[in-house]
Amino acid sequence: MIATPERLDLPYTPDVAAATEHLYARVAHSVTRAEWELYAPYIARIEELKREKNAVVLAHHYQTAEIYRCVADIIGDSLSLAQAAEKTDADVIVMCGVHFMAETAKLMNPEKIVLLPDLAAGCSLAESITAADVRALRAEHPGVPVVTYVNTSAAVKAETDVCCTSANAVAVVESLGVPKVIFLPDEYLAAYVASKTNVEIVTWKGHCEVHERFTATEILDLREMHPGIVVLAHPECPPDVLANADFVGSTTAMLGYVKERRPARVAMITECSMAGNLVDAFPEIEFMQPCNLCPHMRRITLPKILRALETMSPQIEVDPAIAGRARLAVERMTAVRRDLASV
Ligand code: 13P
Ligand code: SF4
Repeated sequence: MIATPERLDLPYTPDVAAATEHLYARVAHSVTRAEWELYAPYIARIEELKREKNAVVLAHHYQTAEIYRCVADIIGDSLSLAQAAEKTDADVIVMCGVHFMAETAKLMNPEKIVLLPDLAAGCSLAESITAADVRALRAEHPGVPVVTYVNTSAAVKAETDVCCTSANAVAVVESLGVPKVIFLPDEYLAAYVASKTNVEIVTWKGHCEVHERFTATEILDLREMHPGIVVLAHPECPPDVLANADFVGSTTAMLGYVKERRPARVAMITECSMAGNLVDAFPEIEFMQPCNLCPHMRRITLPKILRALETMSPQIEVDPAIAGRARLAVERMTAVRRDLASV
């Protein structure tokens, strides 16, 4: 019988308990025992199917704990997931993230089957711009290279000179050695990059629907309530939020900060699951609100992952007419050394 995609209705049997008990410790700070009994049958079955189908599960830091810490083989930010997709020997990649991440995985490794457990897992940034918009911008700024955030469709990437993520945006812009670039589609990430480089930046009006909701007032209130709190923010946030943060970086950079510096109290100004996942890894650290939910990331659930592995669908395909050009833009990005990244 194929799993129901919306409901957690597989039985928690003694066999399931025995196969999964060692995993509970990984999520004990964020998942109750009652929740675990709902998740464990799915985790056990997903693990079996991963072995049977030679599948690898890649999960973004914004995935919920039971996915991120119990079924993921590789966790990471957009850049590291793209690199992992390029390198994997598995036959099947299950992307626990959003559509542009699955599409990027397919671009990087077209021979593999790439599954996205819910095709409706989109992104407001990817929705904000079309290939025709990029062509119009090029016509307006002749000869100016286009740097595109990976949070875009393959069709947009195909109109691009080079992609970037929040982990390497400044390094990618500077790697071009030009005085001016068109940087798409995130207006706030573009403003952040502009503040870190002398390269002139032309941008677009796209925003992340999660990060644009944070305000500087929230951070000031937080600092008043919790003196000494360390505030880490994602560069998709508005400029006044970033101006009030102690550290700005990609999701992996924020994780690195917490790992190395171990602040006693921290606010992660980003998607809620990020702090939720760190609670399990660093129970001694106090993670404070605010955080906002990404409705697209939340579409990925254990039943949908199981169903994707059972049915080998939905699969991601990229139109061959654009795949070559889009891949080139992503490959040019991965060729820029990550250790040069300054965002
Ligand atoms: P990174 O994980 O690359 O920092 O990106 C954040 C994001 O919003 C992905 O959707
Ligand atoms: Fe897109 Fe923002 Fe969600 Fe990331 S958090 S997938 S940028 S909407």
